[in-house]
Amino acid sequence: MNFFLETLKVIGLSFYYLLESLVFLVVPRRKKNVSGEIVLITGAGSGIGRLLSLKFASLGATVVLWDINQEGLKETSRLARENGAVRVHCYICDCSKRQDVYRVADQVKKEVGDVSILINNAGIVTGKSFMDSPDSLVEKSMEVNIMAHFWTYKAFLPAMMASNHGHLVSIASAAGLIGVNRLSDYCASKFAAVGFAESVDIEMRVLGKTGIKTTIVCPFFINTGMFDGCRTKWPRLLPALEQEYVAEKIMTAIRRDQEILMIPRSLYFIISLKQLLPVKLTVLFSDYFGSLHVMDNFRGRGKKD
Ligand SMILES: NC(=O)c1ccc[n+]([C@@H]2O[C@H](COP(=O)([O-])OP(=O)(O)OC[C@H]3O[C@@H](n4cnc5c(N)ncnc54)[C@H](O)[C@@H]3O)[C@@H](O)[C@H]2O)c1
Repeated sequence: MNFFLETLKVIGLSFYYLLESLVFLVVPRRKKNVSGEIVLITGAGSGIGRLLSLKFASLGATVVLWDINQEGLKETSRLARENGAVRVHCYICDCSKRQDVYRVADQVKKEVGDVSILINNAGIVTGKSFMDSPDSLVEKSMEVNIMAHFWTYKAFLPAMMASNHGHLVSIASAAGLIGVNRLSDYCASKFAAVGFAESVDIEMRVLGKTGIKTTIVCPFFINTGMFDGCRTKWPRLLPALEQEYVAEKIMTAIRRDQEILMIPRSLYFIISLKQLLPVKLTVLFSDYFGSLHVMDNFRGRGKKD
């Protein structure tokens, strides 16, 4: 195709895609049916992972729950069954260990079948200034928050590609879009998670695997306990999010094949400003919104958790 024709095509399609997304703003897409899908959720033993497990189970999906915390898993499974779910499969898996991920993935394929919706949700946070962060915790954050995503994709993506059907969900963070004081290793791992999911999504499109969808989730603080002690400066303007609200938003985004979900909505505006403004202004606004000192009173989860 020559330059003139290709330019015309791009202009035409640009208008079409813009119009399409405006229409979807007014008339939202239909939510897809997930009953019969095999949904694997890492970090299903508490917080957002637990809520997503219960929601998928209640919609008739087969849920495969992974966590390192046996008690947490048992409780999620009990709650799911209490809600009437029958197809609940629990596996202890330490996602920070590649061989553990591959071993348990093989077990799942044999015992349950091919996973069609993969939700990389397990996450940890160090919550210290960079120089105070022990090397072991920095490594662990990278292993759980991003390396595990590589290994789960390697394990489950081939079957999705073979059937051109699947959904890859990455529970990243707003900290995967903007740097935060005292969250350097966490931010690095979440930026990586966003970049990885986005790149594989592009790869699937180039390969014509349009039946494999991606949803990248970037929430602000959620009151699950992971960031206990953190306080937002203007809670009315930027409150910590309720976990039930976040889980429901994630479910809707997955079922509507939404590529990226930022919560709250103001993040779309804040992140685009960050790309446009001089760095000094970004830092000024970060201070104004309290993000420079948001980690000052961080406690996180106690040891028993
Ligand atoms: N809580 C927040 O403010 C917040 C904000 C943005 C993004 N997120 C992200 O959302 C996801 C869920 O967080 P949450 O708030 O529900 O936290 P959570 O601590 O309640 O849940 C995380 C789960 O991951 C599990 N896990 C930790 N290490 C593991 C490992 N090595 N192998 C397997 N499982 C492991 C834990 O046992 C736990 O059940 C995380 O990826 C987190 O980074 C959280």
